[in-house]
Amino acid sequence: MTATVTNVSCGAVIDQPTGRRDSSACRCWDGGVQRLWPTPGSELSEIDDSTLAATYAYPADLDGPYVRVNFVSSLDGAVSVDGRSGGLGSEADKRVFGLLRRLTDVILVGAGTVRAENYRGARRPTEGRSTPPPIAVVTGSANLDPESPLFTDTAVPPIILTLESAPAQQRDRLAAAGGDVVVLERLDPRGVLGELDRRGLHRVLCEGGPGLHGDLVAADAVDELCLTLAPLLVGGEAGRIAHGAPGTPTRAMSLASALHADDTLLLRYRRTR
Ligand SMILES: NC(=O)c1ccc[n+]([C@@H]2O[C@H](COP(=O)([O-])OP(=O)(O)OC[C@H]3O[C@@H](n4cnc5c(N)ncnc54)[C@H](OP(=O)(O)O)[C@@H]3O)[C@@H](O)[C@H]2O)c1
Repeated sequence: MTATVTNVSCGAVIDQPTGRRDSSACRCWDGGVQRLWPTPGSELSEIDDSTLAATYAYPADLDGPYVRVNFVSSLDGAVSVDGRSGGLGSEADKRVFGLLRRLTDVILVGAGTVRAENYRGARRPTEGRSTPPPIAVVTGSANLDPESPLFTDTAVPPIILTLESAPAQQRDRLAAAGGDVVVLERLDPRGVLGELDRRGLHRVLCEGGPGLHGDLVAADAVDELCLTLAPLLVGGEAGRIAHGAPGTPTRAMSLASALHADDTLLLRYRRTR
């Protein structure tokens, strides 16, 4: 007696017990493939705020910085459209972006992103606190505009992480504009995360950009990557979500959650270990 089953990932009809597939139907793996969507309860719009917050909760009882990185990318790997990430976003991405900010102690970002995206202070308080998380900017040059919204439109002072080699006059201007300017001996991930640790800012949300992310990958400092895959092909010259010096070892990550909304995938990967 023969029986057939349907492979959930592609719908191909598979003959049992031979396992032979109707090869005209598709090419796929027989084992190890799980259907993440559609499944009941995975549609983002069906998930309430508290369940979503629990899904993205940081590990409890952190005794040092835990680095969560958040990016949105097109399907073909573009990190921006016309130099900014806004063209990739969707309502679902914005919802998770806002939630991640409410769960964090500090938003860590590279100066290139601050300049490109005209950053301002976070609006909503961190859960359980009365103030929003500060924006901590990594900048070797201290080349930031003291009249930009980063300084003028914020409830808490931005933390400016820089170096002695940055022009003193520029550092002074940022401090006069309300920036909490910190001159570090080293501006690599060890120096930056050491400073956040010293301040007790353990739940770190890095919003990019690709240069800072590349440094974090090279230093094996990424604990989690939240990646929104926008249903777009962009082409062109846009970079990808990390860049840096060649020779960085690869880092294995494990899927922690996958949500979808309107053809957008919201993926969360944690370091494997
Ligand atoms: N799709 C997304 O989710 C997303 C997210 C973020 C950014 N983006 C896009 O990414 C682009 C910006 O890319 P980017 O690579 O320039 O961004 P970036 O990583 O934010 O900025 C790089 C800059 O950060 C500073 N920096 C970072 N690490 C440093 C280190 N270890 N030592 C000294 N300085 C350091 C330097 O600033 P100084 O030059 O001041 O020294 C460097 O030029 C924009 O188009 C933006 O829209 C997209």
